[in-house]
Amino acid sequence: SRLFVSDHPLIQNKMAMLRDENTGAKDFREIVGEVAMLLSYEATRDLPLKDVQVQTPVAKADCRIVDAKLAIVPILRAGIGMTEGLLRLMPTAKIGHIGLYRDPNTLQPVEYYCKLPVDVAERTVFLTDPMLATGGTAEAAIGFLKEKGVKKIVFLCILAAPEGVEKIQKAHPDVDIYAAAYDEKLNDHGYIVPGLGDAGDRIFG
Ligand code: PRP
Repeated sequence: SRLFVSDHPLIQNKMAMLRDENTGAKDFREIVGEVAMLLSYEATRDLPLKDVQVQTPVAKADCRIVDAKLAIVPILRAGIGMTEGLLRLMPTAKIGHIGLYRDPNTLQPVEYYCKLPVDVAERTVFLTDPMLATGGTAEAAIGFLKEKGVKKIVFLCILAAPEGVEKIQKAHPDVDIYAAAYDEKLNDHGYIVPGLGDAGDRIFG
């Protein structure tokens, strides 16, 4: 799988604000949404197209439109903070939810909720979670989607740690990862360093 890390000035500018401990919940939430929207622009670059003809006020024009059904699947709860941003660019996408939390002692992902569009198997799924830390959560979520028959999965996160990227690339080599930043390491609690703290807590309080 490919790892795409954005070097776009607008994303870097927004990341500086997200990382700042003095950024409050209102701004943090808005910026997560904006970064998610900008990332989804990159993550949709390979979508298939089909030819159509459109009647302009002047003549017929050969155009191309996206030839794929889309779904956005946030990993609860922090992934929800990215959903709105993706929807801005993909307003017709269906939305599913996967609930996973990371056991604070074992750091193992535990599933507590899974509700996906009925036809999810036919859709290109944009899976979102702001943090890719050990990668256990994303690995499990991708596993669920594959069990449901999903063929095309793209993972979007705000911050990726080397451990998480490696885990996904090994377990799910077909899944591309899009991140706004690639950080140095994890600390003993599985937090990304320097990171931005606990994204879920900063979005939802
Ligand atoms: C955080 C984060 C990811 C996960 C990443 O969620 O939002 O889901 O940890 O860690 P991993 O890559 O090591 O699995 P958390 O468990 O804090 O739940 P929350 O989203 O409900 O806050």
